[in-house]
Amino acid sequence: MDPLLQQIYSMDKARMEQCGKHLMVGGGTRGGPVLQRGKGVRVWDADGREYIDCTSQGWALYLGYAHDDINRVIREHIESMTHVHQPFDTKVRFYLAEKLASLAPDNLNRVSFTVGGGPAVEAAMKICIKNLPAARDFVCLYDSYHGTTLGTMGASWVSTRSSGKYVGGSRFLPLTRPFIRIPNPDTYRNPFGVDTETYIDMCLTMARETLERGIAGKPAGVIVEPIQASAGQLILPKPYLEGLRRLCDEYQTLLVFDEIQTFARIGEMFAADYFGVTPDIIVLGKAIGGSLPLAAIIVSDRLEGFAGDVEELHTFASPTLSMVTGAKMIELLENGVLENCRRRGRYIGDQVRSMMAEFPEIGDVRQAGLHIGIEFVKDPAGKQPIPAETVAIRDAGVRNGAIFGLGGVRRNVLKIKPPLIINQQECDEVLDKFRQSVRQVLRQ
Ligand SMILES: Cc1ncc(COP(=O)(O)O)c(C=O)c1O
Repeated sequence: MDPLLQQIYSMDKARMEQCGKHLMVGGGTRGGPVLQRGKGVRVWDADGREYIDCTSQGWALYLGYAHDDINRVIREHIESMTHVHQPFDTKVRFYLAEKLASLAPDNLNRVSFTVGGGPAVEAAMKICIKNLPAARDFVCLYDSYHGTTLGTMGASWVSTRSSGKYVGGSRFLPLTRPFIRIPNPDTYRNPFGVDTETYIDMCLTMARETLERGIAGKPAGVIVEPIQASAGQLILPKPYLEGLRRLCDEYQTLLVFDEIQTFARIGEMFAADYFGVTPDIIVLGKAIGGSLPLAAIIVSDRLEGFAGDVEELHTFASPTLSMVTGAKMIELLENGVLENCRRRGRYIGDQVRSMMAEFPEIGDVRQAGLHIGIEFVKDPAGKQPIPAETVAIRDAGVRNGAIFGLGGVRRNVLKIKPPLIINQQECDEVLDKFRQSVRQVLRQ
């Protein structure tokens, strides 16, 4: 092994603490295990403890850690090439653009690659403005999350009061752009207490009123996560998304699906197909690079795309290595992994639902593929959130050898979003550890 790598890998706790004094990390909950090595759905920490990772590391490692096929194409590709600047073409970029276009809904055929999710949302915003030059303001949903760049931070709930105390993005208000928000249909909480159909209609009415009366000039676009992941895995109802599509057409604005978290994880390549609603622009990120950094937008044929005169240029926006791994991941998704995601997701969802009798504190289970959120409440009727207990369940999970995700605007949603390659035995292990953690916190 390279002596420098050996030196790094053998750092002890004291040395890590010393180095840590020089490190700034601007987000996420730190303090968990120091990760050292992973294989499949499992990861080991610096002390050798083993965990099943139900976060897929920011929901991004669809094929798990150190997948053999991914590692093989990385090894083969780096023999000839790693970094290539955006203006230079490569065969793999041609290939991946065509591949994504062939998978996307019919009229979405042009792909622009970029460096990360936030910049990809911004790229979509640029396309909107190009096509609606007089427009300025974007619409997004309550509790949405679209990134923390200065261009997207204003669209993310971490900038609002719902984050608890105006933390995160609200500190940068002088530099972030304002977004106009419309109510999100949270059909579990449904604050008006009306039936679901009426509630969805009310949300659409508010969307219409806002497009009509709440925006100076033309609306530049409506940006929406079809499943609001960071908000707490809220699966938006199909009639709501259909309604938004109709409103965007009526008000001649563009519908942008932020599919950064839904791509393939919901058991369909695109949320557009899952819901049967076609947006004008799809935004991709996280897993799309097959475990390496990559993001992209896919744009409708009827829109004007980017021109070459420096509208969208990033040094690392054409990472050939991530494109190779992204292409390989899609091949594996098409050859069984997507089907596995559907099957295992259904199984975990059903099993957790069956635990609701034993634990009435499981207020709601929201599952689409392996995109699973479990909302914890004091009692099913009152639905009071229990964030402290949810954090305790997450922490118990770590002690029991499972890393669960935590989120939701009320911090009471536990997330089970493992790599899509998870097998039956591993699903049962996850469920055992989940049950054990819930029991330890809520029954002991
Ligand atoms: C739906 C959605 N949009 C945008 C982003 C931002 O992506 P990135 O963290 O790669 O900038 C995220 C990240 O969690 C996300 O979940």
